[in-house]
Amino acid sequence: MSNQFDVVVIGAGPGGYIAAIRASQLGLTVACIDAWQNSKGGPAPGGTCTNVGCIPSKALLQSSEHYDQAGHHFAEHGIEVKGLGLKLDTMIGRKDAVVKQNNEGILYLFKKNKVTFFHGFGSFAGKSDAGWAIKVTGTAEADLVARHVVIATGSAARALPDLPFDEKQILSNSGALSITAVPRKLGVIGAGVIGLEMGSVWRRLGAEVTVLEALPDFLAVVDTQVAREAQKIFAKQGLDIHTGIKLGDIKATAKQVTVPYTDAAGAEQKLVVDKLIVSIGRVPYTSGLNADAVGLAIDDRGFVVVDGDCKTNLPNVWAVGDVVRGPMLAHKAEEEGVAVAERIGGQHGHVNFDTIPWVIYTSPEIAWVGQTEQQLKASGRAYKAGSFPFLANGRARALGDTTGFVKILADAVTDEVLGVHIIGPMASELIAEAVTIMEFRGAAEDIARICHAHPTLSESMKEAALAVDKRTLNF
Ligand code: FAD
Ligand code: NAI
Repeated sequence: MSNQFDVVVIGAGPGGYIAAIRASQLGLTVACIDAWQNSKGGPAPGGTCTNVGCIPSKALLQSSEHYDQAGHHFAEHGIEVKGLGLKLDTMIGRKDAVVKQNNEGILYLFKKNKVTFFHGFGSFAGKSDAGWAIKVTGTAEADLVARHVVIATGSAARALPDLPFDEKQILSNSGALSITAVPRKLGVIGAGVIGLEMGSVWRRLGAEVTVLEALPDFLAVVDTQVAREAQKIFAKQGLDIHTGIKLGDIKATAKQVTVPYTDAAGAEQKLVVDKLIVSIGRVPYTSGLNADAVGLAIDDRGFVVVDGDCKTNLPNVWAVGDVVRGPMLAHKAEEEGVAVAERIGGQHGHVNFDTIPWVIYTSPEIAWVGQTEQQLKASGRAYKAGSFPFLANGRARALGDTTGFVKILADAVTDEVLGVHIIGPMASELIAEAVTIMEFRGAAEDIARICHAHPTLSESMKEAALAVDKRTLNF
């Protein structure tokens, strides 16, 4: 086997494995190196997303939602459940099996697309006329030569100063997805995406969950109206969220974690919990790449410096995903992976950062794309807003979940859709229509004129579009 490749991708998360597949589709010879190991030491491609992120968190969110429904909501459908119980090991085992299916799926895709996979750690070992020398160490040992290198090494959880993750009591996302007994009291630092999703999982399974957030506003990046609605609903569900706090010195013993903090009113408080999830953001991961030796530019926050096309400062070296600027989302990483592969292949890959959707998979789900109302106000753009509550949607009533609304923001003159914000059932699926419309620079009227199947939740999107023109039909 030749060790010379057109493209060597370092990292097989959503950015890396998708870049590798796309490059191979374009007729390039491709290798992908990934270090992640499963519990048996075998390869586990898919990165953070597959192993300790998107996929396992959604598996547990689904399982815990079923449990919550059976315990609290089946009765209203006339379904009586007696002796409801929780087998946490089965639930965690199912989550692990879902992860394994995805790992195996990626290995299959590599084979199908003729991507040569190396299970090991990749680092720069120099440059010659033939290309970049990349050393693989670990399960696979190899010296590769690459005409192009794509760095897709992802990110790692950020720890609090002087409080390293032990994954027993001080948990990152990895530990939070593998707790073996439901804690009686669970603390969460950071009311961001992970804090809310993992807090929801363990609350539904019976833990008393307290979330401490440093910022004064809850979900400050989300449209304010949606954030307010979410805060109300989460409080009703029993998620105890405190914003505007300042942490003191956290102390952990074998049995409990004590979290002293100053609350928003300036009073000293103390939270004592069995376990603490620290979800205060993630940091780009470039350790061991040997970046300094080859002069790869890394900024003061640890991100690989790239231009708008994901080119680094080194010739034929690209970087995508969590390790570069922009939102740390799997689909953003994938889009950049495809675009870079296409650029290497001589095409004109493109990523539209204005239409990257966000989803928080709580119950209700929160999803949005484009600008928030507060951003439009700050920029002085004249806009019209239209909302429609799920309470007035027939399918939502039939489902028994009428929380939330769809809100569409459109330009006051041209009617172009500038932002769509959804809180409610299946918001994660509904947002796709908004992304499509915005990608085509469509107007609210376009959504309003499209025939939506009845009865569906998607009719709320149509009605919100009608509301932009103040002519809802069902509200
Ligand atoms: P990663 O997925 O981090 O993959 C990088 C890979 O590179 C890893 O396998 C790593 O082992 C490997 N690697 C690193 N250095 C080397 C090296 N030198 N040699 C070989 N291999 C190396 N995003 C969403 O869009 N939706 C979600 O629902 C969602 N849920 C999430 C839930 C949680 C709990 C977390 C933590 C994240 C979630 N994310 C979600 C974010 C998402 O996981 C990341 O944005 C995404 O994984 C980034 O992809 P990536 O390819 O850049 O990096
Ligand atoms: P986050 O950035 O979403 O939230 C971190 C929160 O912690 C912020 O609200 C921040 O103000 C707060 N914080 C920071 N320092 C603090 C301190 N000292 N004390 C108290 N609060 C503090 O980061 P999170 O939740 O760790 O997730 C990381 C990233 O992973 C997300 O930004 C997202 O990109 C990705 N992710 C995406 C998901 C999705 O798409 N559904 C799910 C989970 C993660």
